[in-house]
Amino acid sequence: MAEPSPPPSGPTRRRFLFQIGVASLAAVVGEAAWATVRFARAPLSYGPPLKHLLGRLSDFARGGTTYVEDAKVFVKRDDEGVRALSAVCTHLGCTVRRAEDGFVCPCHGSQYDHDGHVTGGPAPADLAQYELTLDAAGRLTVDLGRPVDRGTHLRAHGES
Ligand code: FES
Repeated sequence: MAEPSPPPSGPTRRRFLFQIGVASLAAVVGEAAWATVRFARAPLSYGPPLKHLLGRLSDFARGGTTYVEDAKVFVKRDDEGVRALSAVCTHLGCTVRRAEDGFVCPCHGSQYDHDGHVTGGPAPADLAQYELTLDAAGRLTVDLGRPVDRGTHLRAHGES
């Protein structure tokens, strides 16, 4: 009667496949951990910037209305000071244009007066007005994240 052969002491196919499985699992877990760390440390930026440098106050003529494309605002400067009116139509977000009696939206025809009040069309609300700040160098910045009450004016030193 033949004796049973002893179990192999070297690497077996089963052990090799087990080691490949463990290595693959470790690679997947490591990659997931690395992605989680990168996500947690990434700077927060979920959209376009809300603050826009508009230029020097002296660039905006008193009595004038100037469109600033980057911020999509109209900068209006008059005897009461300076303010920033949104150029984004409150209907569906098209950019309004200046018109003889205020602003008009080219998409569906909403109309606004010179102060941004709705005067016609489907727009449900007036144009927004945003906070303006003036730095020590005389540069104006608008913050699109900070709406202000209509008629709020920034009065710069020297404005009368
Ligand atoms: Fe301006 Fe519709 S988007 S009227």
